[in-house]
Amino acid sequence: MQVPSLSRVRRAAYTSVPSWTKPLATRCFYTLHPGASWSLYEQKARSREAFADRFFDSRAEFEAYEAEFEQSQVPGLLYQAWQEHSQPIYDSHKEECVRYYALVRKLRPTSVVETGVYSGVSTLAVLAALSVNDHGTLYSIDCSTQFDEFDDDTKRHYERRRPSCCEDGSHLLPGGKQPGWIVPDDLRDRWQLVAGRPQRELPHLLEELGEIDLFVHDSEHSKTGMLFEFDLAWEHLSPGGVLVSPHVGWNDAFDTFISDRAAESGELAVHYVHFDEYDGPGWCRYARKPAVDRERTSAHQSVKTAPKSVADD
Ligand SMILES: C[S@@+](CC[C@H](N)C(=O)[O-])C[C@H]1O[C@@H](n2cnc3c(N)ncnc32)[C@H](O)[C@@H]1O
Repeated sequence: MQVPSLSRVRRAAYTSVPSWTKPLATRCFYTLHPGASWSLYEQKARSREAFADRFFDSRAEFEAYEAEFEQSQVPGLLYQAWQEHSQPIYDSHKEECVRYYALVRKLRPTSVVETGVYSGVSTLAVLAALSVNDHGTLYSIDCSTQFDEFDDDTKRHYERRRPSCCEDGSHLLPGGKQPGWIVPDDLRDRWQLVAGRPQRELPHLLEELGEIDLFVHDSEHSKTGMLFEFDLAWEHLSPGGVLVSPHVGWNDAFDTFISDRAAESGELAVHYVHFDEYDGPGWCRYARKPAVDRERTSAHQSVKTAPKSVADD
């Protein structure tokens, strides 16, 4: 008889308790299992340092951007939005927001594209940095308001019918709000929001823009959906441009992508995610295009991507 692993037993126990007890269960686990919390703490510290070393001239430069983020209007706006709505709005974790902010400040991108806006946490962090840069535009694609129009198969893949970092029903925007509702008016002049599914809208947008400097995927987290967006965005990414994806641990799309492209990659942030089968550390990773783009100089190496069906894995 096969003895189930400890993590399997822990997961089964976690899955069976009512959802309102899960945050407490998580905290208890880390209190009773200090090794796990220290290991997560170390992972977080290591990924922060590696990120700073990769993108910034010095740790001090990165820390200055962190401090700038703390002083910006972003934390206050998020706190206020959270107070006003009982529903969670924090889809991007704080570490991710700080790093999006620092990356945009440092790279000074002209065009940033993101898919998956929801309330607009990552959107807000990117726009705040573009505003300080006084340069660049963020183009976002989101279909949150069209959920009711989707057929059953699409709904099955809409966040794969599971909560995204929060409770059931979280795919619905709070109180019928619009995607990115937390972005204040003074940050909207550098923002263009395209309503629709990335599978349909992303090819048009990228064709129109030609070249982009930063791409953030945070929409459909199925393997096919992620690979479709990664492949397409990569073709349009400028030399030295960066592609970012949260939730890379949910399937092997990101690993497949970077191994196929032999692309340089690393962790943008590590945080803790707790729900159902995804209870555990969550990784947000980046892939960076070489500063001198070898792919574009070799015409036949370029991979042409046709829109793929989203209904798999
Ligand atoms: C994780 S949330 C985005 C969170 C956002 N980046 C933030 O920081 O707050 C995922 C978003 O992707 C969109 N989405 C979910 N499933 C999708 C699908 N199958 N196709 C396209 N978009 C989808 C949802 O509308 C939702 O707004």
